Amino acid sequence: MPRVYLKTYGCQMNERDTEQVARDLTARGYLLAESERDADIILINTCSVRDMAEQKALGKMGMMSRLRQNKPEMLFGFLGCMAQSRGAELVRDMAHVDLVVGTQKFHRVADHVDVLWKKKLQLRENLMDDARFSIVDVDEEPGSQDTIRDHTLSERQVTAFVSIMQGCDMHCTFCIVPSTRGSERSRPIASIVDEVTKLTAQGVREVTLLGQIVNQYGRHEFPKVGGHSPFVQLLRALHEIPALRRIRFTSPHPIGFRADLIECYAALPKLMPHVHLPLQSGSDPILRAMHRGYTAEKFIRLTESIRAARPDVALTTDIICGFPGETEDDHAATLDLIRRVHFDNAFIFKYSPRRDTPAATMTAQLPDDVKEQRNSEVLDLINTQARERSERLVGQRVEILCEGPSKTNPDRLMGRSPGNKIVLIEGDTRHIGEIFDVQIERSTGFTLYGTPAVL
Ligand code: 5AD
Repeated sequence: MPRVYLKTYGCQMNERDTEQVARDLTARGYLLAESERDADIILINTCSVRDMAEQKALGKMGMMSRLRQNKPEMLFGFLGCMAQSRGAELVRDMAHVDLVVGTQKFHRVADHVDVLWKKKLQLRENLMDDARFSIVDVDEEPGSQDTIRDHTLSERQVTAFVSIMQGCDMHCTFCIVPSTRGSERSRPIASIVDEVTKLTAQGVREVTLLGQIVNQYGRHEFPKVGGHSPFVQLLRALHEIPALRRIRFTSPHPIGFRADLIECYAALPKLMPHVHLPLQSGSDPILRAMHRGYTAEKFIRLTESIRAARPDVALTTDIICGFPGETEDDHAATLDLIRRVHFDNAFIFKYSPRRDTPAATMTAQLPDDVKEQRNSEVLDLINTQARERSERLVGQRVEILCEGPSKTNPDRLMGRSPGNKIVLIEGDTRHIGEIFDVQIERSTGFTLYGTPAVL
């Protein structure tokens, strides 16, 4: 059977979509290749959120065309967000690309690969003319949000991503996602509970629920019950699964992060005390221009309410530097808000104009050196705060779920604290999948090192 190399760019949602594609292909007998050099088929799952991500995927695909020199029948495809937004243009511009599959059609990838691979073999056997044959499938598909639900777990895998919804209706002016992922569509609670129950039967102890705006889960499909939003109903239903020990989710929007969700941080012990709450900017005029729907004060009040419900909560965020029209005062307001909230960590991005978004055509675009300068100032401040937050844990006992050998240091085991910090320990592989206390001895800024307290 042909060997497939899958490469993923972008967010956890993309990782999860790739996992589904891998599972569909292996279920049909395809083999997974460790590297592109061992592959007959190469599929790149793409990201569009910033231009850099698109350029990386395009560059990679360009480089890989050379692999055909020894294997002319190789099959190449683009999947996901950039495939959705660029569509047929990709097969037109890159002569070796055979397949383009959008974000609502991941479950069709295996069918398309079957068809194309047969064609490739015919071309090779019969030395038929090499007329190009390609498939572009970027249509919308009702119900596609419920197709990302199968897993291939690696041996002793104890954490898993679970996709609960697709799309976004928020329309932030900088963001391409509503056009790449479509409008908000959610899976039924029962389907998600079933998936997570199956995962726990296979040894999974922690799930991270994924969606573009997870706290808006189900708002178009399901009613509130007893004052609980559909997302809170889902959290509470998952909390009942006995073998599930930890629940995380990413990412929520500050809008719609209401009292019923905040209450969960006090009421549901399995809900881990970490909230990734994208801020984007600390300036009210910029937040308005971004169409975020909250002010800096409101954001701060929200973080205070979450901390009141769960004082040990870790807060992380996303910040965009150099949005069109951002002044030095706006930038100073962002730094100010960061100082007031004190984050555990953050992703900092330079604003990148995206096609067909309102911000891309705003007149006051900023030069790259200004974006770069502000980006590095915000990053320095965030790094200082992240280091402080980690160092606070030195000398303390922290509970971890042991996930397996550390990727960077295979002699040590890796686990995550409730607040999602990486903790490395020396220990026996028999502890993988267990939850236990670790005495934290030192911090290297972002990673904590410790010794199991009672083993
Ligand atoms: N430019 C820079 N960063 C962006 N993000 C989304 N769109 C853009 C853009 N056009 C960032 C936001 C979002 C994260 C996933 O990516 O901070 O929260």
